[in-house]
Amino acid sequence: MVFPAALAAIVASQLTIPEKYALLKGSDGGYVGNVGNVSRLSIPSIKLQDAGNGFRTSDARMVGQVTSWPCALALASSWDRELVRAFAESAAEEFVAKGANVVLGPGLNVHRVALGGRNAEYISGEDPVLGSKLADPWIRGFQENGVIATAKHFVLNNQETHRGSYSARVSERTLKEVYMPPFEAAAMAGVGSAMCSYNRVNGTYACENFRTLSMLKSVLPGWVMSDWGATHSTSVVEGLDQDMPGWDSFFSPLNLATQVPMEAIDESVSRILDPLFRVAPRRGCTVPGNGCDRELYEVNASTPAHSALAEKIAVESVLLLKNDDDVLPLSRDLRVGIVGSACNAPNNISDMYARDVGNYYVVGGSGRVVPDSVITVVDGMKAAGYGNIQTSFTDSAEDAAELDVDAYVACAGATSVEAQDRSSLSLDQEAFLEKVVRLPQPTVVVALAPGAVVLPFSDQASAILVIFFGGKFTGSSVARIVSGASSPSAKSPISFPLFQNDTILPCLDQDCPYEEGLEVGYKNGKPVAFPFGHGLTFTTFEYYWIAEPVEQKNDTVATRARIVNVGNRSGVETPQIYVLYPEISGEPMVPQLKDFQKTVDLAPGGYTDISFLLPLDSLRIYDGTLVKGTYHFYIGASSRDLRLNSTLSLS
Ligand code: BGC
Repeated sequence: MVFPAALAAIVASQLTIPEKYALLKGSDGGYVGNVGNVSRLSIPSIKLQDAGNGFRTSDARMVGQVTSWPCALALASSWDRELVRAFAESAAEEFVAKGANVVLGPGLNVHRVALGGRNAEYISGEDPVLGSKLADPWIRGFQENGVIATAKHFVLNNQETHRGSYSARVSERTLKEVYMPPFEAAAMAGVGSAMCSYNRVNGTYACENFRTLSMLKSVLPGWVMSDWGATHSTSVVEGLDQDMPGWDSFFSPLNLATQVPMEAIDESVSRILDPLFRVAPRRGCTVPGNGCDRELYEVNASTPAHSALAEKIAVESVLLLKNDDDVLPLSRDLRVGIVGSACNAPNNISDMYARDVGNYYVVGGSGRVVPDSVITVVDGMKAAGYGNIQTSFTDSAEDAAELDVDAYVACAGATSVEAQDRSSLSLDQEAFLEKVVRLPQPTVVVALAPGAVVLPFSDQASAILVIFFGGKFTGSSVARIVSGASSPSAKSPISFPLFQNDTILPCLDQDCPYEEGLEVGYKNGKPVAFPFGHGLTFTTFEYYWIAEPVEQKNDTVATRARIVNVGNRSGVETPQIYVLYPEISGEPMVPQLKDFQKTVDLAPGGYTDISFLLPLDSLRIYDGTLVKGTYHFYIGASSRDLRLNSTLSLS
């Protein structure tokens, strides 16, 4: 048997110099990115398509041919590795059916700026451990089904404002502890490619930054491509293997021949060929001699099973932030007022194509998968069997007050789009919600959100549900939770701040010092409206130690906890383990997430035991030191709801 790496090396040795050069640069073709095949050696063409939210409908003909999945941040809200894997496997089938052999995802950037225009595209939320744990099944699910994944945007592309020029001024410690881990986890999962970003890092563009690229490439088993137009020089030696989409001349044969030694060219070629053979060997229309137009524009890659999975993910992404007096689930016998235009927000396909924007269901820009239709919240509620629904979509609380109802479901939304940060963390209909929640009947607020939002009405709202861009099945998923047909099980991958000014705002200068260092997201310790890791269910869980943390000979810290459902409905809990470092470590003095697991569905009175085995290596700080001293271990239901604690001295 010839191993892929050996095969890649044999094939690489047969390539002529022009053939090698051609692999290092994008060319024309119907996909977002294209690299021609080498028919003489049966090297397939490389067909690259966005993105982390599913197959990008880059041409209106594709709408309806691919599944409209919930966005990456919604998927992350499930905190469910198996669900992430199921998504990746099914989405990969669609990429294959559409002729693509590279997916331009996952988006792994840790949210630094709550207003970040692309936060919905990032599976890490605000925590590197969450991103690292979810990157693994995402990448394996795609790659084991024949599609090379692309870890992006490397690195420190934490805002869209001035994204093509700002410089993230960051310490080595912050880079290594906050922003690198999801990319390293991607490399460990065998990711076939990575995409360097538009911004600069400590003054040098990410796509010619030898320091950051060599850190990545010391573990990456694949190639580095530029983000589209992010190349600024013929930077092969600095670590860029492929210039995308190839519209500039930095990687022209002349520049490559005069500026790059052949051994660097050869290394880049093998980095590209190896994943091609390992993950996506010649298949479908990428085989030399075939075009992909039929796949791109005619093949219907979506299936009923994929749609069912998209809906399941949407349901499992719905965050229940608040549920006073168990107002939810809402009895179907009640007279329900569905109020606010966002409950009936249209899926404006032609506008989205005209302006490249998103809506309350999908992100705008390159991560956009335009649904052929959407189930709005009001559609979902009607289908869920509520017999007496009254509506008002005027965003007027006075109109809502006219309805003769027992309870309200009040919706609001916000949009976001690539290349711009959001201008505000407020929902578009915030003023309306502030009035509706003051009406005498209970109000269930439903936020269709691109990421963090402020919820200044939260004290008065009876219940709050948030769904990050949920795609086609937004309304049916919300209705399943509202009606109790499904139990909420999501946990928030981000903090919901009290005030926009409590968050890091986009830097407006070219030089952007990351002054907060390690104190990103919940690690800044500020009071929040709803914390990272929070998400209610319809029941109550209690936590007990079965085994407090002990150091084991095989270099792990082992703990075991019992999770008991003491409520009267079934539910799924997601226990999370956090560690507070000894003070001399220089770590934030806030417990940090180290791992999490989802329980099975527990019936009332049921329990399950959860083991966490933390490798000691996961406690090392950026320079490899395992700081001596007393560590506090916590297991809890969120970053601020730590139920069990114990200490362990490491020497
Ligand atoms: C985006 C990438 C995307 C690429 C190709 C760029 O503008 O930043 O995320 O993969 O375009 O569409």
